[in-house]
Amino acid sequence: MADISAELAGIKFETCVFNAAGPKDVTLDELEVIAKSSSSAITMKSCTLEPRQGNPEPRYYDLPEGSINSMGLPNLGYKEYIRFTHLLKSKYKKPIVASISGLKFEDNITIFNAFNESNTDIIEFNPGSPNTIGKPTMGYDFEYLDNSLREIAKVCKKPLGIKLPPYFDFVHFEQVAEIIKRHKVLYICSINSIGNALVVDPERESVVIKPKGGFGGLGGKYIKYTSLANVRKFYELLGDRVQLVGCGGVYSGTDAFEFILAGATAIQLGTVYMQEGPSCFKRIQNELMAYMKNKGYESIEDFRGQLKTID
Ligand code: DHB
Repeated sequence: MADISAELAGIKFETCVFNAAGPKDVTLDELEVIAKSSSSAITMKSCTLEPRQGNPEPRYYDLPEGSINSMGLPNLGYKEYIRFTHLLKSKYKKPIVASISGLKFEDNITIFNAFNESNTDIIEFNPGSPNTIGKPTMGYDFEYLDNSLREIAKVCKKPLGIKLPPYFDFVHFEQVAEIIKRHKVLYICSINSIGNALVVDPERESVVIKPKGGFGGLGGKYIKYTSLANVRKFYELLGDRVQLVGCGGVYSGTDAFEFILAGATAIQLGTVYMQEGPSCFKRIQNELMAYMKNKGYESIEDFRGQLKTID
């Protein structure tokens, strides 16, 4: 059996495959489903200062090869997720990943401070949601990103990762990598959904989700190549200074293998978990192990980052 364990942000993960923040991770019941599955961690929904209902429904729609959503950060408010870390830790052995997506700069500071007293193993700062009505995607405002990370790093006593939106321009990757280097960020998770896509149902002559006139974040197979490019470009720029987590369009063990080749230490499952449910974790872990065995690789460090280019 190939060893697909990983160490992320200094925390041991039994396998490198776990759930992405977002899908079915809002309530304690949903988190317990993840805890009981083969997901190697329990990632919780991005939280805000106050509980939120989120955007009006329909706000998620399955597509033949992915999904579009504009959930609008429905969550129970950060205090509940701090409470959940204690409950989950007392029952399950897995690492817990909290995700923080405060709507304002000061909210993030308050929430990060409070999470120091939680039982989370890792905190993922999420400045990448494209779906909050009336708010720009914070991960595209580099000054805001730099200032936020500076203040967050001052207060946060937990291992810190960041979930970034997709970038499409090499200069932007360079600018973001410089910001990341300045702060105590242990990993980058790339990517958040590709913001503000539009799905049209020609039969109904209509959009498929209600918020924002139908615009929403694209996920699934449509975004895999953008996710791979983001992981690879950050790996080229940051090497092993900052770890990488691949997220976006992983549906199989071979997809996971591709992300590790590009430089990822771990893989998060989003849309595939929405569509397949908790069996996706074991299936993809098994497929990854089988693919590695065929190749003669014993651990993910045997090939991580070793993607070949063509001379
Ligand atoms: C939501 C969507 C995201 O892509 C994200 O990173 C956080 C929240 C949402 O709409 O709930």
